[in-house]
Amino acid sequence: MMEVVALDAPLGARIEGLDRSRANEPDVAAVLNRALAEHLLVVIPGDRMTPEQTRIFSAAFGTPQKQLLRYKRSGGVPDVSIMVSTLMADGTTDKTAIRAEDWHTDDSYFAVPAKATLLHGIEIPSRGGATWFCNMHSVYEALPEATRKRLDGLRSVHGYDTPRARNRPSPRTPEEIAETPDVEHPLVRTHPETGRKALYLNPNRLDRIVGLERAESDALLDELADEARKPRHHHGHVWNVGDIVVWDNRATMHRVVIDYPVGETRVMQRVLIEGDRPF
Ligand code: OGA
Ligand code: MN
Repeated sequence: MMEVVALDAPLGARIEGLDRSRANEPDVAAVLNRALAEHLLVVIPGDRMTPEQTRIFSAAFGTPQKQLLRYKRSGGVPDVSIMVSTLMADGTTDKTAIRAEDWHTDDSYFAVPAKATLLHGIEIPSRGGATWFCNMHSVYEALPEATRKRLDGLRSVHGYDTPRARNRPSPRTPEEIAETPDVEHPLVRTHPETGRKALYLNPNRLDRIVGLERAESDALLDELADEARKPRHHHGHVWNVGDIVVWDNRATMHRVVIDYPVGETRVMQRVLIEGDRPF
């Protein structure tokens, strides 16, 4: 029997006893999606899968969508990307891993960002490399009343890059540039399934708040990020080979800690699940 076990943490649940081959059955998929909306992060231990099996499994959460960066897409199954974040001797990793070191939510540079991301551990270093998650409902609720009032109705500009981000992203091809003009999103969004409000922040992509001077916008964004950086909103997932981890991009941020041994391979399969326009 499948069971949803809430973690003793600000977010997350572990799915026990799931037969992954049944994930797309409507009653099973409904339990998985409810667990995701409620806990924002679901961890599903199990065996390693092929990209094709991962694509089929991911459809339990919605429609898989191709990710922007073409070079990541796995040849035969373009909905599944292969993310290599192995730490090299010169201290570098793939660009996307370096970017993922700071808190972010995936895909917010699109007008309709992915609702969820699925990551599947294929090769995991012997230690380190946890992925940390932040509950953006609890961040919003922890803000002083006056700040929450101030955020009401504010919109922000997200782009592929912003000088506010600590690291630069992977270069885009002309085709990828054409697909990623700046977009506007509300600074506070409502989760379409639970109705809860979440701070929609992304230190990697959020450039400025519409209608504020740069200095004022920077100060407010820094103040909001300070709340999100507090450990009381966080949970870290320590990876085992075969884990499937799915997070809700509508109400979380995440980051990877690049503290694993040099040269030990870290490889994940990744699927983005189509979302709705934030409101
Ligand atoms: C991602 C991401 C973090 C990790 O795939 O979007 O941020 O731990 N990954 O690899
Ligand atoms: Mn990410």
